[in-house]
Amino acid sequence: MKVVKNVLQMQKIALKHLQNGDEIGLVPTMGALHEGHVSLFLKSKRNDDITIVSMFVNPMQFGPNEDYLKYPRPIEKDLEICEKNHVDYVFVPPANDMFPQGYETFVEVKFLQDVLCGLFRPIHFRGVATVIVKLLNVSYANRAYFGMKDFQQFKIIEKMAKDLNFKTKIIPCPIVRERSGLAISSRNCYLSADEKNASRNIFKILKEALQDFKNKDLNLVKRNAVSKLKKIMNSKIDYAEIVNFNDLLIADKATKKAVFAIAIWIGKTRLLDNIVMIK
Ligand code: PAJ
Repeated sequence: MKVVKNVLQMQKIALKHLQNGDEIGLVPTMGALHEGHVSLFLKSKRNDDITIVSMFVNPMQFGPNEDYLKYPRPIEKDLEICEKNHVDYVFVPPANDMFPQGYETFVEVKFLQDVLCGLFRPIHFRGVATVIVKLLNVSYANRAYFGMKDFQQFKIIEKMAKDLNFKTKIIPCPIVRERSGLAISSRNCYLSADEKNASRNIFKILKEALQDFKNKDLNLVKRNAVSKLKKIMNSKIDYAEIVNFNDLLIADKATKKAVFAIAIWIGKTRLLDNIVMIK
């Protein structure tokens, strides 16, 4: 496994692999790796000749009052996890190499970026789309892997890749959960033991909503779920919406495939979760 800390060096290495006919897989992460990330590595290991994992806490996707400085950065442990899973390259660029002084170019995916999380984190998806375009250009990836835990992020990247004619295939990967049902996240470490215990109810509530989806009015499904979510200890809901799988518009009776997407604060920790609902 090689650790690459420089953008141009990473691009040179990737280009060489491309010219050798290797298929390249990219797994973009912000580090603080866990089993959710590892599931993406393993999918790339199965599909691609070369797996590149990027670990970059992207300043451009954090708002001024968000946790950019506090975001966990356990680099040694992360490198061990990559090594153990036979990652070929770990790309860990410094922020000023990705976004040097005078950087001026941004990518926006209108509408998809403005709903759900976009209402609460206005610059977030512009930062995500911009860094992903750069990472795709640096890695020459044939495939790039994204978790469905961040469903809106996946849809935005998929749309961006289509709109901008990227040849990279954007591959969705299922949500990895703890045994309790809580979606694994780098931010779960902010939860106290009691909060973590209470957070397991989120998935329970989503699963109950899935049952209701088949035979109840959508407004009722949502209302029931919201009233249960409100009862979780220290919770504050940013949103809990049932949206169409494809365009993220609020679902209606005609919707066949929907996603119930939730962003909820448990104390000082913001958690995302969702469940796909098919009629
Ligand atoms: P990060 O939160 O580190 O997540 C990296 C990738 O891992 C994302 O595609 C995310 O959806 C996926 N992931 C996280 N938890 C998961 C879980 N429990 N199950 C399955 N997949 C999971 O998302 C980001 O970083 C950043 O926004 C990034 C895309 C790297 C751009 O900076």
